[in-house]
Amino acid sequence: MVIYVHSNPHHNHLTLDTHTHGAAMDTLTLICTISFILAGGLYWFVFILGSAEQKGKHAVKLSGGSIEREKVQDKYNQYWSFFRRPKEIEKSENVPAFVDTFYNLVTDIYEWGWGQSFHFSPAIPGKSNLESTKLHEQMAVDLIGVKPGQKILDAGCGVGGPMRAIAAHSGCNVVGITINEYQVSRAKAHNKKAGLDAQCDVVCGNFLEMPFEDESFDGAYSIEATCHAPKLEDVYSEIFRVLKPGALYVSYEWVTTELYNGEDPEHVEVIHGIERGDALPGLRNYSDIAEVAKKVGFEVVKEKDLAKPPSHPWWSRLKMGRIAYWRNHILVMVLETLGIAPKGTVDVHEMLFKTADYLTKGGETGIFTPMHMILCRKPEKVQD
Ligand SMILES: C[S@@+](CC[C@H](N)C(=O)[O-])C[C@H]1O[C@@H](n2cnc3c(N)ncnc32)[C@H](O)[C@@H]1O
Repeated sequence: MVIYVHSNPHHNHLTLDTHTHGAAMDTLTLICTISFILAGGLYWFVFILGSAEQKGKHAVKLSGGSIEREKVQDKYNQYWSFFRRPKEIEKSENVPAFVDTFYNLVTDIYEWGWGQSFHFSPAIPGKSNLESTKLHEQMAVDLIGVKPGQKILDAGCGVGGPMRAIAAHSGCNVVGITINEYQVSRAKAHNKKAGLDAQCDVVCGNFLEMPFEDESFDGAYSIEATCHAPKLEDVYSEIFRVLKPGALYVSYEWVTTELYNGEDPEHVEVIHGIERGDALPGLRNYSDIAEVAKKVGFEVVKEKDLAKPPSHPWWSRLKMGRIAYWRNHILVMVLETLGIAPKGTVDVHEMLFKTADYLTKGGETGIFTPMHMILCRKPEKVQD
């Protein structure tokens, strides 16, 4: 901005005034333009930009799930106190309630920042996260070889991202079960919106004691969910019970791999970090999975760590998300300060970020995989 001063003293005052006025106008225009852009950007960020992948949740709608908003902070503190009293987690009967609390706290943040499928998948060059996720889900139903119209179980269904992809891909009817009431309402709303509510049903319940008849499903799958069971045999035996003879079950399990060394303090820290940030009562080793499946009566058809090369890293999405995390974290802080997001949301968001670091380390060192695939068959004739 330039202010011209003329040599004619009579004109000086007037010229200065005119130009000062012009300068003020320029400043005002600049401020207005910047404010307009900022306000537009903020509006886009908060109201338009939903979840990273599929718009499902906007930042202004972050909640503590079924927890009353005044109690979110307390519930978060209570969640952490579980880990200060490890004996509590060891008591199997406490685990489903503890997992339920965790999903009340994180479900909205997951949907907003990750999408409607709460699991990992190997990165596929040239494909988006959404496409890679879908392919990983479709592989599960392809493995259990079911036909259109048949009924299959999704044990630990989240808000139903996998269920919808699988129903659309296979033509099957999917019944999902989750311990978290809030996820049931989210999943039902998404199913309806996707026009898949006739094919997809969701039930609130414990997969350790499922409210389903014996031999009532033609197939079953679980994606990154059975890791929440304090004893794997309890959930596997329930799935075995509800499957028809000859039916297949596939699971993507979170496990430590053959590279994990329980004597190495760094390995132990990474695995404990994953357990604390993901409500896990204790990660199992990959070698336990088939043993448990056989113990409850399954025949093991196939077992494979889907994270192993030539698969591309599943954790690259977490690493790439660091900038998005900081951007989202600032927004969560603003929303919590303004009283829009419940108090405690910042803590939950921060916990998830720290966990993402442990997961990345687990992936990079190869000591952990979230996709140890096991395919099992319930024999035609069950042995007594
Ligand atoms: C990491 S999420 C995965 C959700 C879903 N499979 C997906 O990939 O989007 C784990 C799911 O397991 C469910 N879950 C954990 N423990 C459970 C239990 N005891 N009974 C039923 N569901 C349970 C949680 O409620 C959550 O929906």
